Amino acid sequence: MTRAIKIAPSVLAADFTRLGEEVQAVDRAGADWIHVDIMDGRFVPEISFGPTVVEAIRRSTQKPLNVHLMVVEPERTIERYAKAGADHILIQSEPGSTVHLHRVLSQVRELGCQPGVVVDPATPIAWIEQVLHLVGVVLVMTVNPGFGGQRFLPEMLPKIADLRRLCRERGLDPHIEVDGGQDPLTVRKTIEAGADVIVAGTAIFGADDYGQAVASLRLAAAG
Ligand code: DX5
Ligand code: ZN
Repeated sequence: MTRAIKIAPSVLAADFTRLGEEVQAVDRAGADWIHVDIMDGRFVPEISFGPTVVEAIRRSTQKPLNVHLMVVEPERTIERYAKAGADHILIQSEPGSTVHLHRVLSQVRELGCQPGVVVDPATPIAWIEQVLHLVGVVLVMTVNPGFGGQRFLPEMLPKIADLRRLCRERGLDPHIEVDGGQDPLTVRKTIEAGADVIVAGTAIFGADDYGQAVASLRLAAAG
């Protein structure tokens, strides 16, 4: 992998009483993308926030907003997230989210955003083979979605490697992003397996110095 590693702080772990300042702080700390988790209380048990808050985040940073929709029927709301200023819209691949994955990803592109597809820990890579050519990002969940602060699942490492191999075979080069339980110890392994974008909530917002936290993830990624 010659591509530069990207770090995407997940605002789910931010102090929501000071959301704007928190987003500006990780922006200054060297974030490449800002990861924004949308949870609807149906696809996952928690509810986070919706397009109005994404719009507020948009006003706090110029960095790309990497919006991860953990929702049922994303086709109903993608236009609102596009209007709110999302740069990437990531769709869960499981039928419990949408039954028309190919169509939704195409619609995201028509809205002018970069489509991304998400695979949960139990979802095999084969499930997204037929949509790989449509996406700029594949997000591999390294925890089960729904909460921050969970433990990294090491059994996802071979899956990341298989995905990278499949992309290479197909002549495709999407970003491979990993989400969940990432810290300097796990990052080295996920990067070695073939990931190039690291989402980190607790590892960044749980630190006293965000700049140092981003730098140590980068250092770990560099090996
Ligand atoms: C989990 C979310 C993650 C979460 C990651 O459902 O998709 O983005 O915020 O948080 P950490 O880094 O704490 O595991
Ligand atoms: Zn996420």
